[in-house]
Amino acid sequence: MTAVEDVHPPNLRIMTIYGTRPEAIKVAPVIKAIERTEGLESIVVVTGQHREMLDQVNDMFGIVPDHDMNIMSASQGLNQIASRVIEGVDRILQLEEPDAVIVQGDTTTVMGAAIAAFNRHIPVIHLEAGLRSGNISSPFPEEANRRLTGQIATLHLAPTPTSRGNLLREAISERDIVVTGNTVIDTLFHAAENLEVQFDDHRLERLRREKEQGSEQRVLLVTAHRRENHGEAMVSIGNAVADLAEKYPDLLIAFPLHKNPLVRDAVMPLLESRENVVLLEPLPYPQFTKLVGLADLVLTDSGGVQEEAPSLGKPVLVMRENTERPEAVLAGTVKLIGTHRQRLVDEVSLLLDSQEAYSGMANAVNPYGDGHAAKRAVAALRWKFGDGERPQDFTG
Ligand code: UD1
Ligand code: UDP
Repeated sequence: MTAVEDVHPPNLRIMTIYGTRPEAIKVAPVIKAIERTEGLESIVVVTGQHREMLDQVNDMFGIVPDHDMNIMSASQGLNQIASRVIEGVDRILQLEEPDAVIVQGDTTTVMGAAIAAFNRHIPVIHLEAGLRSGNISSPFPEEANRRLTGQIATLHLAPTPTSRGNLLREAISERDIVVTGNTVIDTLFHAAENLEVQFDDHRLERLRREKEQGSEQRVLLVTAHRRENHGEAMVSIGNAVADLAEKYPDLLIAFPLHKNPLVRDAVMPLLESRENVVLLEPLPYPQFTKLVGLADLVLTDSGGVQEEAPSLGKPVLVMRENTERPEAVLAGTVKLIGTHRQRLVDEVSLLLDSQEAYSGMANAVNPYGDGHAAKRAVAALRWKFGDGERPQDFTG
């Protein structure tokens, strides 16, 4: 006869599917939390929509995927990514038969994996649910990807009360939403607390040492990659950075370049001969966030950077016309400035030249999370699919 204490309920098998750098940064703490939780079994699947930039993050967390679909190709199209994701994920779902699938955010990997799971009647858990710009064409295709995923998800893990409100307005039941905070802040705190940073690039390493000794070297950090900024807007961004390099010869401009050739081909010819512009390969996450900490201000079109830099008290100028992350704009730390060359130069100059304008924006705010989002996410999925209690919502 089996002793009562030997009878365990079967594990809930949770499959996390992701494909790009920002997804990896944001699912990693959840995967780690699942691994630590009794009664849960983690299955990790990467589509490989990104390659080097994805592997960099998995390596940092010591995550070895159970399945790697390796779909990336040079200058891939949206339908090519989507069809490869749906087909490849479908095969893995058939093989593994998970109880639920986690997807994070708004990439084509997310939309494809969610559809593949939905078509097999496997519940979809959407992490970072409810972000909305309100414009289906911008960001493209992310706003559509997140709305489509929201329509078929069973559990919505909204990062903030604002994103919860967006879901409620789309008639998603409040019983299917838990506000967790954004897991990006979990990863940020983890990197800041646990990882000693030295830069591989000798100019950044010198900067780090000099800053530690009280140097007042001013630093502008730039990143750009959005599809709607490819082409003319990317050239405008490159030209604006070149103008700033000339106008402020003592300013150090650090620009880690996305791997996308459409970004590199547009900005490299405009910037590579500038002495005070440091063009870099994508930085490992701990080095990138350390650099945010060393920078005076950030010029970016990135979603994740809009969430991290405010937490580190750095003013962020966002090269977009709208945002699905209004919280830090309302807090005054983020400003939307579009991509017009002269506007970029004027807005950066204002922050460099006016102490008053600078202090008005340099406030450390944490509307996106408190570092416990992954814990809430795991509690939420145990509540929804197992036998746990509903966690308290993150209140911002
Ligand atoms: C993708 C996401 C975007 C997200 C961004 C994060 C979609 C449609 N877009 O955009 O939402 O904000 O990731 O960075 O899902 N490449 C490499 N190595 C890499 C990564 C990319 O060489 O590690 C090159 C390849 O040539 C690839 C190209 O970049 O074809 C574009 O990658 P893709 O994932 O299609 O678009 P992103 O602009 O990275
Ligand atoms: N990031 C990084 N190295 C870099 C540039 C960015 O690790 O050189 C991180 C950054 O900290 C943030 C994420 O990548 O968490 C943002 O990714 P990206 O801008 O590619 O995508 P988005 O957030 O716009 O979808």
